[in-house]
Parts: sequence; structure tokens; C-alpha cells
Amino acid sequence: MSEKLALEGGPRTVPEGLIKTWPVITEADRKAVLAVLDSGHLHGTGAPQAVALQKEWAQYCGVKYALVTNSGTSAIHMGLAAVGVEAHDEVNTCALTYWSTAAAILHQCAIPVFVDIEPVTYNIDPTKIEEKITERTKAILPVDLHGMPCDMDPILDLARRYDLKVVTDSCQAHGAEYKGRKVGSLGDVSAFSLNRSKNLCGCDGGLLTTDNEEYYERAKMVREFGEVIIHGREREYMAYGLGWNYRSVEFVNAFTRSQLTRLEEYNEKRRELAHRLTAAFKDIPGVEGPPEPEGRKPVYFAYVVTFRPDQLGLDEVEPARFTAAAERALNAEGIGMGKWQRVPVPGMVVFQKKRAFGKGEPWRSARSNVVYRAEDYPETLKFLASHSYLRGVHPPNDVELIDLYLEGFKKVMGQMDKVLALVERQEQA
Ligand SMILES: Cc1ncc(COP(=O)(O)O)c(C=O)c1O
Repeated sequence: MSEKLALEGGPRTVPEGLIKTWPVITEADRKAVLAVLDSGHLHGTGAPQAVALQKEWAQYCGVKYALVTNSGTSAIHMGLAAVGVEAHDEVNTCALTYWSTAAAILHQCAIPVFVDIEPVTYNIDPTKIEEKITERTKAILPVDLHGMPCDMDPILDLARRYDLKVVTDSCQAHGAEYKGRKVGSLGDVSAFSLNRSKNLCGCDGGLLTTDNEEYYERAKMVREFGEVIIHGREREYMAYGLGWNYRSVEFVNAFTRSQLTRLEEYNEKRRELAHRLTAAFKDIPGVEGPPEPEGRKPVYFAYVVTFRPDQLGLDEVEPARFTAAAERALNAEGIGMGKWQRVPVPGMVVFQKKRAFGKGEPWRSARSNVVYRAEDYPETLKFLASHSYLRGVHPPNDVELIDLYLEGFKKVMGQMDKVLALVERQEQA
């Protein structure tokens, strides 16, 4: 006899209040933040916490230079400007991402051109980039989505052949590795987010990395008003080009430094929990975890669940319907399931209406004939219909929670016929 589903009034598998939130905040973090108040430095790109964080992050990634900024979006924008992306240039990026990746391209007055994902890692498909390259293309902006590094070799090879720059959006992939090298050291420039949810959390903020001195100097100017500010020298108050205020604050820098001391430990725990789930899902028909291709070490910013109705003999059920019903039943069991992106980025209103700076800019002056149609990204659409995100797969949560999750998955997947009927009935009611 199957256990009564929480969806139909049975007991939930995961008791309320058991899923702990991210980030883990320790006494050391508290001290680090409070010490800023007495330090005499609250912000400034030359302030001690900013300078130390940059040095530590560059060392961690194995590059010469790092810059701290006020967001991942600003770090991407700085990166694009630094490598020489200019107004009306095209930048190829991934159709599945948080849309600020593409917003950063627009911030540089350039034109986003989207590429579909490949179905194994859900990252940009390197085999589909070349067909999108035109004489206007200046850069490729791959996204290390969900903490999974992109397949960089073919991307870097394309960039060499077509003389393009590569800026990686590594906002979700602090500490991930590709062929033994840390993400952040693979493209011309890389950008990281430090927002609340990220593996390296600063509350809000960003980091940029590069090995190229010229890009580093340009990115610094973009970060601070287009000025050349040399700490220890009198400020010139001369703008050499357009710049923004992308400075960070010392509380964030201090908090991030303190969190950074535990990044490896936390990433290892994420990997342990993820591997436990993925291994156990092999014995639960209807659900699969993400594979880890050879040479890639992901850090599981997000744990992606694939729903496989075919494994339950329910091939006739629409993937989106199956996913939505499963999510509902699992949530009722107390398992944190949810959606993130709902449409391919080119399917968002901002691209459908080409609504950026007004008056059709930047597309109008660029005489751009780029078209944005969600249906041109079938793999992204497939992903959106058949995947979901499992919350709480990070410390301080541990194997006890994961094992409860697995119990809940077994319970729900074993009764998907009933779940589908129940959800349909509830929707009709
Ligand atoms: C893939 C990706 N790119 C860019 C960003 C933007 O980062 P931020 O929120 O720090 O601006 C995020 C963060 O949500 C992200 O997940």
C-alpha cells in the first residue's frame, strides 16, 4: 500500500522548518563586518578590504588581476567594455541564463545574439555558436550556468579563429573547474556575482578577473566614472571616457573575504549532497540528476532535476504538465522545488519589443536585423518544460535532509498517476 500523499492530506515527508537558508553566517563573519565600522574606511576602490579581496580572489582563480564591483551585472558590463565591445557590436550569449547577462550587453549599447543550449549540461552549445557569428560579432559571452563550467576549449578555439574576445559570465560558478583550471581563468575576462544566493556570498556585489593588464586598466576606468584613479596619488578628476559608479562597500568586501575562507569547504559539501542525490535518483524512475561530463568539476550553485515521464510509462503526458504536477506534490511533501527562468531570454518582452534605451535603440542605429523568437531555441524550451530546481542542496543542510528528500521523491514518483489525477482535479475545482 502506498503512503498517503501530502497533496491528498497525508503527512509531509520533510517537517516544516528543516530546510536551512543560505548563506551560513558565522561569528567570524560578524566580527569581520563589525570591524569595518572602526576601520575608518567604509568604501573606496583603494580601501583595505577591497584591495585584499581583489588579491585573494585573483590568487584563488589563478589570475593576475581581480576587481571588486557592486554586482555581477556590472562586472559583466565592465568585462565587455574592457575587451573592446563597442556600440552596435554583436555579442553571442546563451538563451538560457538570468537575463542580466544580456542586459550587460545592452548596457554597452551592443546587440545580444542568442545561442541555444546543449542538452547535457544546459550550457551554451559550442556547436551552434559559429552559425551566429557575423562580421559584427565582437565577443562570446558563455554562462557557467548552475555552477557547471562551459565547454571552453571549442569556444576558445572559435574565438581564436574569428578573432573574438571571450567574457565568461561565471556569476554562478565560483570555484568550479574546467580541465583542472578554475573558472575565472579561462576567458579573456570573467565576471562573478556576490549576491545573496551565490556560492560566494557578499550580500550583493561582484568580481571581475583577467590576466590582461590592458583589460584590467580599462575595466577599472569603467568601474569609476571613466577616470584613471591611482591610489596614493592626487585624483585628477578627469574623465577619459564613459564610466559608471560600480564601486563596492567595505562591509561587503569584509564579509566576502570571510566567506571566501570557507568557499572550498562549502563547495565540497554541495558536491557531496548533489552526488548523493544523483546516485540515488538512478533507482527512482521518473527523475534524474545532472551528469558531470569528464573534465568538469561543477559547484552546484543550483541542483537541477530532470523529470522523465517516459521512465514511468507516462510518455503521453506533456513534460510541462508532468513537471508542474510533480513540483506541486513534492512541495506538499515539504521538498523545496521550484522554477527559475520561464522563457528563453530572447522570448522576454524586452527583446520581443526591443525595448531598451527607447526609440528602438540600440537596434535601430545598428541597423540590426537580429530577430528574437523563443521558438528558435528548442533545447532551452525543452529544458524549461522538463526541469525544476531542488532547494536547500547546500550547507548548513546535510545528508539528513537529502535522505528525507529522497524518501519524498520515492513516495511521489511511485504514485505519479495519482498525482496527475489529483492535480487535474484540484485545478478544475
Ligand atoms: C547567470 C547570472 N548572470 C548574471 C547575474 C547577475 O548578478 P548580480 O545579481 O550580482 O548583478 C546573475 C545573478 O543573479 C546570474 O545568475
